[in-house]
Amino acid sequence: MKQFIAKILSHASVSDCFFELAFAWDAAAGPVLPGQFCTIRVSPYSAPLLRRPFAFSRYDEKTGVAAIAYKKRGPATELLSCKPAGGTINIIGPLGNDFFRFATAGYAHFYLVAGGTGFGPVAFLANHCAQRNLACTVVLGCRTRSQLPRLNLLPSVKAVVCTDDGSEGIHGTPLTYLATLSPMQYASSAVFSCGPAPLLAGCHEWALARGLSCFVSVEQVMACGVGACMGCAVRVTDAGANGFARACTEGPVFDSRRILWT
Ligand SMILES: Cc1cc2nc3c(=O)[nH]c(=O)nc-3n(C[C@H](O)[C@H](O)[C@H](O)COP(=O)(O)OP(=O)(O)OC[C@H]3O[C@@H](n4cnc5c(N)ncnc54)[C@H](O)[C@@H]3O)c2cc1C
Ligand code: FES
Repeated sequence: MKQFIAKILSHASVSDCFFELAFAWDAAAGPVLPGQFCTIRVSPYSAPLLRRPFAFSRYDEKTGVAAIAYKKRGPATELLSCKPAGGTINIIGPLGNDFFRFATAGYAHFYLVAGGTGFGPVAFLANHCAQRNLACTVVLGCRTRSQLPRLNLLPSVKAVVCTDDGSEGIHGTPLTYLATLSPMQYASSAVFSCGPAPLLAGCHEWALARGLSCFVSVEQVMACGVGACMGCAVRVTDAGANGFARACTEGPVFDSRRILWT
């Protein structure tokens, strides 16, 4: 992990609300794995004061290029969206744990479920699965067709698109699709999920009811991003952790059975 100033290599919209920002990675910060994130200081001025966390959407050790895919939401992402290729950003990363710290042996197939801003980390995860010959299906949910990120950001893996309004793919959410699967289809599978809390909770319940493992990346609001403030605390089932775990250092990826969902 390292703080550094990175050169922006490309910055483009990949749907009507998503941007992909690729930047030069400092090799001294170490390699990046799917599920990990960086924090970005978008302005040298006092506002917005806090760094903002973004999951990596790709990383290539050979070319030294990393990227994030983000949605414009408020002041920080608005400022970020104005940064041109050739400019710089202030990065700290890589931070947090990764999906592959959880054993992948014993699973024949992975459902990689993304909702909204979960697209970036799931695209990164799908590329890793493809490189390691791990069978996977990407299940991508968004509100409507125009918000669907360009699917060429995904490797050649099976992808199922779900839209809330039915304008593309399945009419419904990724949970609508999961509910249609038969025991033959989900046997020996595990779920990796990134996105809004109701989607993560739904994936957890779906997997639990079928005796499958589910790993989720939580999007807690973060202040320091490095374990110092407890601002990102998640309620967990193990009393040994005083009932809380820090999403920025012990997560953001958790075994869904460890999280107290209610
Ligand atoms: C581990 C992690 C990975 C993330 N990965 C992505 C990603 O790949 N793409 C993406 O678009 N977004 C991602 N986010 C969310 C991103 O951090 C927020 O969208 C961003 O901070 C919004 O800042 P803003 O000033 O534009 O909006 P604000 O007006 O400050 O906030 C808009 C909403 O964004 C969320 N938010 C605000 N500040 C934070 C914060 N410090 N930490 C987390 N959430 C916050 C809140 O839900 C808030 O209601 C991630 C968050 C976390 C914790
Ligand atoms: S954001 Fe400060 S401890 Fe996680």
